[in-house]
Order: sequence, then C-alpha cells, then structure tokens
Amino acid sequence: DWIMGDYIEEAVAKIREQVGDEEVILGLSGGVDSSVAAALIHRAIGDQLTCVFVDHGLLRLNEGDMVMDMFEGKLHAKVIRVDASELFLGELAGVTDPEKKRKIIGGLFVDVFKAEAAKLKAGDGGHKGASFLAQGTIYPDVVESGGTKTKKATTIKSHHNVGGLPEQLGLKLLEPLRELFKDEVRALGVALGLPAEMVYRHPFPGPGLGVRILGEVKKDYADLLRRADAIFIEELRGWKDEATGKNWYELTSQAFTVFLPVKSVGVMGDGRTYDYVVALRAVQTSDFMTADWAELPYGLLRKISGRIINEVRGINRVTYDVSTKPPATIEWE
Ligand code: XMP
Repeated sequence: DWIMGDYIEEAVAKIREQVGDEEVILGLSGGVDSSVAAALIHRAIGDQLTCVFVDHGLLRLNEGDMVMDMFEGKLHAKVIRVDASELFLGELAGVTDPEKKRKIIGGLFVDVFKAEAAKLKAGDGGHKGASFLAQGTIYPDVVESGGTKTKKATTIKSHHNVGGLPEQLGLKLLEPLRELFKDEVRALGVALGLPAEMVYRHPFPGPGLGVRILGEVKKDYADLLRRADAIFIEELRGWKDEATGKNWYELTSQAFTVFLPVKSVGVMGDGRTYDYVVALRAVQTSDFMTADWAELPYGLLRKISGRIINEVRGINRVTYDVSTKPPATIEWE
C-alpha cells in the first residue's frame, strides 16, 4: 500500500545518507526483526550489506536452508552462512542445566559472530572493510533496555540478546527499526517482499532447540525433535477453525514440540517398542508473561500424534502439555 511505500522510501533514503559508501554487517538469525532489517537495508544499499548467519545446529527442520533461499536466492543479498553446529554440540556435551546451556549457546554465538565480523571489518586487498553493525532492534527493545522496567523473564531465564557488541567490535551502529512496533515491523517485512509465513512466525528462542531438548543436547535428539515439530506445525497450519476462518497456527501465539529424554514402551506390529516421548506445547497469550494452553481440537491432536508416531521412528508416544503460565513457563527449560 502507498503509506508503507512512502515509509520505505524515507527509510531507504535515511539509511543511504547514514551509511554513504561504507559497508554494513548484520547478524541474520531467521527471526522477524533481523530478517526485516536485512531486507530493508539491502533495499537501501544492496551489496554494501553482508549478512552473517550463524547456524548453531539447533534450528528447526530446513530452517537454515530456508533463510539462505530467501536472502541469497530471492533477495540476492550477500549472506555468509557459518555452520557451527559441531562446535555448539561439542561444547554442550554433558551439560544438563538449562541456564548453563543458555550461557554456552549465547556465549558461543557471540564468539562465532564476532570472529566473522572481525574478518569483514578487516576487509581484504581489494576493499576497506565494514564500518557499521546493523541490528534489528525494535522500539520495545529500546524501551526495555533503557528504562527502569524490570524484565522478569530476563532474571528467570537469561535471554541472549547482547548489548555492547558494536563497541567491542569498533563498529558504528545502524538500527533502522528502532522506532517501530512489532506489528509495524511485520507490515514492513511484507511490503518489502518477505513471505507472510516468515513475517508472522511464532517467536523462537535464541538458544533454539537447545532449550527444547530437556537436559543434555544430542544431535540424535535434535534430529528427532525437528521432524516431530515440523509435523506439528504443518498440521496446525493446515487445520482451519470454521468459526474464525483461521488456522490453528494463527490461533496460537506459540506452538512447539519438546523432546523428553525418557523412553516408554509401545507396540508396533508384532513387536514391542521402547522409544522416546515428545510433548506438544501450544499457548495463547498477549504478552508472553502469562499464557493459557490452547484448546486444540481433538481431531487435530489425534492427527498430529498419529503422524508423529508413524513417521518419526524413535518416538512412540506423544503428550499434550495442559499447564498454564504461571505457574509453568511456556518453554520447558
Ligand atoms: P517462558 O518460557 O519464560 O518464555 O514462559 C516466554 C517467552 O520467552 C521466550 N524465551 C526465550 N527467548 N532466549 C530467547 O530469545 C531465551 O533464552 C528464551 N527463553 C524463553 C519463549 O520462547 C517465550 O516466547
């Protein structure tokens, strides 16, 4: 629409003015904010932008490839994909405490990103290197970090958004979404040509599947979880609620699968199975501080559990989490 068109033109002009002929680095996570920031900055300065996408191996099924297809394939942006999954899994071996896992994942993430950014800053023979770090900071982030508002979630679970990175790297900061609320960021993303599916995605925590595999994180567990979760999300998207005309992905605020490293007995054909259990979690909330579990239709739950158990060898039991927040949290760790 034309109002958004005007906004984009203004924002593009501002970015061009601020950046001039210098180069910009942006950490792309696949999340809404960094994706929209990348699309906007790319619109403004094209190849002066280099995105760094650190794949920690704890992303959802095909997520890394989808990010690459979108930004490199469709937008023709420069993207460096750093496959750090072995590093992350190695450091996580034997670690079971949720906060320790978060610290390890967050710390490694920053280390890997910094190393990549330092290379880009240094430049090489032909060119002088980057001088800006772009971040997808949005207005609510600005209010949260500047104000006196106590953020309970950060004390209960340390979220891994890091401050001070531009200073440490000696880069100037570029934050083109600083004045926007989440719904404006989404509308901007759509106007910039990002698929609605990406822009209206449920939130996904920085530590990713690292906090959705209870206890020790192992590659086999992550692989099983990815496949089960993909089925869950696909079925939510595909099941329409007649009353509202919306599907159950749209009717929930966050939905995901949790891997439980316990085995239970089952039967399949003439044989006995002894396999892992997953829990489905789907909540409705307006602020994520309190949340209610979603009353998914029984038929939908039946279809999801049937598909997961039949299609994901290694999982033989599916449970549904009926806990509200509080006293439970949305994530299991
Ligand atoms: P909880 O589990 O605290 O989750 O009810 C509230 C919201 O925060 C998200 N969450 C995280 N996001 N890093 C993140 O970036 C984290 O460590 C983290 N832990 C929880 C959670 O997905 C939900 O949206």
